[in-house]
Amino acid sequence: MDPANTNQSYITVDHVGQPDQDTYFTLDVLSKFYLTPHHKLNKEFLEKELYPHIKRVKKCDKKRILVTGGAGFVGSHLVDRLMLMGHEVIVIDNFFTGSKTNILHWIGHPNFTLMEHDIVTPILIQVDEIYHLACPASPPAYQFNPIKTIETNVIGTSNMLSLAKQVKARFLLTSTSEIYGDPLEHPQKETYWGNVNPIGPRACYDEGKRAAETLTYAYQTQEKVDVRVVRIFNTFGPRMDENDGRVVSNFIMQALQNQDMTIYGDGNQTRSFQFVHDLVDGLISTMRNEFTLPINLGNPVEFTILELAEELKGFIGSESKLVKLPAVQDDPKQRRPDISLAKEKLDWEPKFSRQQGLLETIQYFRQIVEADCEATRRS
Ligand SMILES: NC(=O)c1ccc[n+]([C@@H]2O[C@H](COP(=O)([O-])OP(=O)(O)OC[C@H]3O[C@@H](n4cnc5c(N)ncnc54)[C@H](O)[C@@H]3O)[C@@H](O)[C@H]2O)c1
Repeated sequence: MDPANTNQSYITVDHVGQPDQDTYFTLDVLSKFYLTPHHKLNKEFLEKELYPHIKRVKKCDKKRILVTGGAGFVGSHLVDRLMLMGHEVIVIDNFFTGSKTNILHWIGHPNFTLMEHDIVTPILIQVDEIYHLACPASPPAYQFNPIKTIETNVIGTSNMLSLAKQVKARFLLTSTSEIYGDPLEHPQKETYWGNVNPIGPRACYDEGKRAAETLTYAYQTQEKVDVRVVRIFNTFGPRMDENDGRVVSNFIMQALQNQDMTIYGDGNQTRSFQFVHDLVDGLISTMRNEFTLPINLGNPVEFTILELAEELKGFIGSESKLVKLPAVQDDPKQRRPDISLAKEKLDWEPKFSRQQGLLETIQYFRQIVEADCEATRRS
């Protein structure tokens, strides 16, 4: 898709990370991993044994890094970055919502290990850092088995904190803006304690993450574990699951196939979305920073769901109709991060405009829709 056709004025970002730091890469290097159809990636990287070029790191600076949930949407982008930076990366995943195809291009690389494991069962591995992401993040996925979701958040997080204690690793929990519930304070600062329904359909996730935060700080106080907590606000990008019901992937898939675009409620509820590469920058900056209290990571630019639907429809040139359905129970009416703390402590703020992120995400989903059409045509 030609961005010029969108008639939008926004700055195009062509690098991720910080200049003069080891996190800095061209967007082209990263996008090759997800904009190349999997069967071609397979051929290029696996059959010819050509792995992407990674930075050379001195032995003393090279870390062993565990990413739980590394086969999921956010985790796989974090893995790409840490691998390109030259570190040794171990992924633990039970593949409930994640997929091997997200990290296919690293399988067999000497710096990469993939372990199929459920974090509800303890594990012992020697690592320097733990990025703890394992937990289904989309409402249909975490509501599919609410008991498992809360166990993953409580027992799973406790297991990972216990591991961090045993091997003296720094531990980062990916918490969520959902801990603020349907917020009575807007925008949400880290000091806001939230407005959560403890027995509603989202409670297994919201209360699970709140308990995970409590556990994290209990391990800090009681066991002196070196912890970090980020509260992630809505994030989008390539590798979101096309069927998991999150609004961006839903709208794009519907628009690409000229199906009705389904809006729950009147569409005036607001959201703010960050592009996944900005989030990865924030996660790595937090892990490296000495600040240990929770930090919001999100994009404060707010818009309505209706605006998002219209925007995507225009970008795709779709003939889809916008159709309103009843609102979802406990769906927050507005959500916007206050990111002053991240700016102050991490010198971090989102670089990608929503428009650039959406165009990149559309390209990703377009290639999936085309592959599906091709498969149907052949069968
Ligand atoms: N994507 C967002 O907008 C968003 C917003 C707020 C917070 N988060 C948090 O970020 C993290 C990653 O989210 P995501 O969007 O990549 O979700 P995702 O569902 O794509 O990824 C989660 C990964 O964890 C794995 N997993 C789940 N339960 C597990 C278990 N018991 N043992 C081992 N692996 C398990 C899944 O298979 C998957 O690969 C989650 O902790 C989520 O709560 C994400």
